[in-house]
Amino acid sequence: MYKFYCVFLAIVSAAIVSAGKEKIMLNLKKESWISDNDFKAIIKLSFPFSLCCNAYVKGKTLGVDVLFNQFIKNFKYEYTVQSLSYDCHAYFGLASSENDMMNKVKERVPTSISTTELLLIIDDKITSNSSILDVSIYKNSNVNIISRSGYWTLSENYLFPRVFKKVKRLKELRHKRGIVDLQGRQLQVAAFYNPPFCYLSTTINQTINKIDGQFFLANDDRELDGIETKLFLLMSKRLNFTWKIRKPNHYFRYGRPNGSNWEGGMIGQLFRNEV
Ligand SMILES: *[C@@H]1O[C@H](CO)[C@@H](O)[C@H](O)[C@H]1NC(C)=O
Ligand SMILES: *[C@@H]1O[C@H](CO)[C@@H](O)[C@H](O)[C@H]1NC(C)=O
Ligand SMILES: *[C@@H]1O[C@H](CO)[C@@H](O)[C@H](O)[C@H]1NC(C)=O
Ligand SMILES: *[C@@H]1O[C@H](CO)[C@@H](O)[C@H](O)[C@H]1NC(C)=O
Repeated sequence: MYKFYCVFLAIVSAAIVSAGKEKIMLNLKKESWISDNDFKAIIKLSFPFSLCCNAYVKGKTLGVDVLFNQFIKNFKYEYTVQSLSYDCHAYFGLASSENDMMNKVKERVPTSISTTELLLIIDDKITSNSSILDVSIYKNSNVNIISRSGYWTLSENYLFPRVFKKVKRLKELRHKRGIVDLQGRQLQVAAFYNPPFCYLSTTINQTINKIDGQFFLANDDRELDGIETKLFLLMSKRLNFTWKIRKPNHYFRYGRPNGSNWEGGMIGQLFRNEV
């Protein structure tokens, strides 16, 4: 099944790009500022699973030609140029300046999709205050940026706020997979007394994130018991997060819908972004 899929994909995409490939393959003598080995590694780390790529090129300089040639040489799968295939999650952008690059990203790349992988190469210097390093452009996508003045990688998309980190060694460009590490962040959680699932009952009144509420003290082994509570504690240990458990206000457990709003209960807490 897997083999069949690969063959099929190769045939379909070969038909798309083979027309332009020969012409683009210029015999360029100019040396690139990225070595071939590094280029290969950058592609592999930025697109670990993609068997295809959407490529965008902006700028008609010799530098851009050299880099694009290098991409053609080192990207082992098929790619489309200047057109868009949403089936393919990998996006390669190459530009001579950061402004050209930014417009392309904003226009063309579905950055809200969390599986989107972006590799941007800018044939220019950028600084840590450059607008191409503005995190908000990239929403939920995975991003590596390569420039003449350094390489940057965007932190994982499950942990806010996201930040760009300057890379010291190439392998830091790898996007993390597998078990999530929430790095001790505090989650706001909802629960109510509901044996045998949850025995939490003693609360104190507190204001957290500017919202008043009752929070379970959870400082007693008899209360930190119950099937769901135990599972929750295991999750918090494994995923490395801390927590505060907010009791639903009002008398309802899950709440009641009322037109455009939700009254009380745990769903009400979700609805109001309290948890
Ligand atoms: C960005 O930082 C550099 C120094 O690192 C500075 O020279 C430049 O003026 C700054 N640019 C902006 C737009 O803040
Ligand atoms: C959990 O997060 C803390 C805080 O960021 C970190 O120091 C620690 O190494 C993490 N623990 C594990 C097991 O990843
Ligand atoms: C805590 O808040 C609840 C409801 O908001 C209120 O009924 C209760 O009296 C408060 N307890 C204290 C000790 O202030
Ligand atoms: C719905 O619930 C909200 C919050 O309790 C309340 O302010 C609002 O008046 C209710 N709306 C209706 C139509 O009952």
